[in-house]
Amino acid sequence: MNFADLDWRVLDRLRSTFLQEKFGSTGYWQSPRDLAQYHVSFGERIGWKWDAVLEELRDIGWAPPAGVETMIDWGCGSGVAGQRVLKAFPSLRRAAVGDSSPAAVEFALQGLRREHPGIESKAWSGTDASGGLLVISHVWNELDPEQRVQLLQLAGTAAAVLWVEPGTHETSRDLQTVRDHFREAFDVLAPCTHQGPCGLLAAGMERHWCHHFAPPPPEVFVSSDWSRFAVRAGIDLRSVPYSFLCLQRRPAGAAPASDDGWERILGRARISKPYARTLSCGVCGVCDTEVPKRQLPDWFKTFKNGEEPRRLRWIRDGDRATSVEQP
Ligand SMILES: C[S@@+](CC[C@H](N)C(=O)[O-])C[C@H]1O[C@@H](n2cnc3c(N)ncnc32)[C@H](O)[C@@H]1O
Repeated sequence: MNFADLDWRVLDRLRSTFLQEKFGSTGYWQSPRDLAQYHVSFGERIGWKWDAVLEELRDIGWAPPAGVETMIDWGCGSGVAGQRVLKAFPSLRRAAVGDSSPAAVEFALQGLRREHPGIESKAWSGTDASGGLLVISHVWNELDPEQRVQLLQLAGTAAAVLWVEPGTHETSRDLQTVRDHFREAFDVLAPCTHQGPCGLLAAGMERHWCHHFAPPPPEVFVSSDWSRFAVRAGIDLRSVPYSFLCLQRRPAGAAPASDDGWERILGRARISKPYARTLSCGVCGVCDTEVPKRQLPDWFKTFKNGEEPRRLRWIRDGDRATSVEQP
């Protein structure tokens, strides 16, 4: 279906389901039409987050390890996450999709077969993801505590995990805890630049959360359809916050991946007249750095415009940046 054919009776219902977090015991996908409507709108917006994550993985040179040829999209919904991942990693040969909604599984399978005809795809409801790349997207807040434990058990069997969630304080901090839960058995390859404990879980850091902003494709800003969608849905298209994890199982007995020495910028800078303040995370922990407008005007502008790089290394005098290095 086309974006121009949006049905607001469907989208309003889905939106209020997501906002109120009332998912219902039988789920909220009432028909394939619901999934089609979601796929081109809310789902596509989730796709932009995946695009940002997959671009970051490409930048750090990550791809599924040799021998990992199966992707499992758990809680697939309309299948947007799995489709993005398959497009990014041509080494994947097989796809499996699972969801508590049979309608979602069917819709996602049809999409996979249409968009990736060369990939062997099937429905999946297993509890063992051994040897596979497990993809999880926007499902955590729909799970009760027991289901969360089951999902973590499943993730613990995978060869690698790509996990994207909204960039809310609560869910991002949950993902930080998940990260530390897995860091003995897995290398955390992104967003973290180090394998130590999550610096944002340290005492005193409770008000911060590990989140980032995905840029929508430029054409979105000149699309009257998207602009109408944004107004009607009450969404700011410039601000697409997300949190994520890329985990790769560490071979038995292997040392953790080495720290890469960079700092990952978290969230958006706080801007005042004389400086920007950025939060970044690296091997030394989480640092709050002042970027003075007078000494570093270009960097001040970059942060003011929300165009921050993902990774950098501040050279500091105390907590004030004097210069910067980039990968
Ligand atoms: C917000 S949608 C996200 C769909 C898709 N992953 C995406 O990113 O667009 C959450 C999906 O999780 C599914 N879900 C909820 N609880 C589940 C469970 N216990 N097991 C499997 N899927 C579940 C829902 O049916 C729904 O399709």
